[in-house]
Amino acid sequence: MQKKIIIANWKMNPARASDAVALAKKIDRIAAGCPKAEIVVAPPALFLPSVGAVLKKAQLGSQNVFWKNEGPYTGEVSPAQFASVGVRYCIVGHSERRFFLGETDDMVNKKIHALLDHDLTPILCVGERERFNGEVPETVGKQIAAALANVKKSRLKNLVIAYEPVWAISTTRRARPAHPDDAFRASVYIRKIIAGMSGVPVARDMRIIYGGSVNAKNIAAFLGDGRMAGALVGSASLDAKEFSAIVRIAGKSR
Ligand code: PGA
Repeated sequence: MQKKIIIANWKMNPARASDAVALAKKIDRIAAGCPKAEIVVAPPALFLPSVGAVLKKAQLGSQNVFWKNEGPYTGEVSPAQFASVGVRYCIVGHSERRFFLGETDDMVNKKIHALLDHDLTPILCVGERERFNGEVPETVGKQIAAALANVKKSRLKNLVIAYEPVWAISTTRRARPAHPDDAFRASVYIRKIIAGMSGVPVARDMRIIYGGSVNAKNIAAFLGDGRMAGALVGSASLDAKEFSAIVRIAGKSR
């Protein structure tokens, strides 16, 4: 049985490097006490080396990447540069980047290829903007198909897909977490799209996690009834106590 993966997406927090290191130390202690869950910490890029230096058990993740390895790309960071400071995972296509930075499906696709070329594990974020009733919106399928275009089947096992309905992300107005049954339904739909692209075995083994207002109260239902392989946690990952509770529940979840 694969371990549940819990990813701490700190977004543009905290304000200072010293606070980032202090939080990372606490999270690493949590990870050390809970070997049955896999923990990834994704701090702002600037703090990656100092956070990486204190992580012994938790893995390091970045929140973005550029698709070229060198050249005149002001402000960007390459996959090789991330790898050189110990990054193993990378969040790609987060709805905040799609919305605020104009990240397109084509850019997401290039980033996925670049990451896989450097043995970094992409955490591909997909999700609809409007709450749905019944069928999972086609936008989710389109995001997946575009993001994974021309990715070899044999490489897909190194990918994590995060289903993150935008309306459920805690910073969205009137956000509410998805119902675990809806998250499960979305995961079935995502597997169907992947099966169509890459075959049933790849789709069956794909790690699909949930993100959107995850906390210590609702995580058990997402991992249990929702049958998610883990969670992408934003706000609650900045609170060591809350995050610790989430990780402990994930460690016990089968
Ligand atoms: P949230 O964020 O847990 O604060 O809703 C999740 C995310 O945006 O990755």
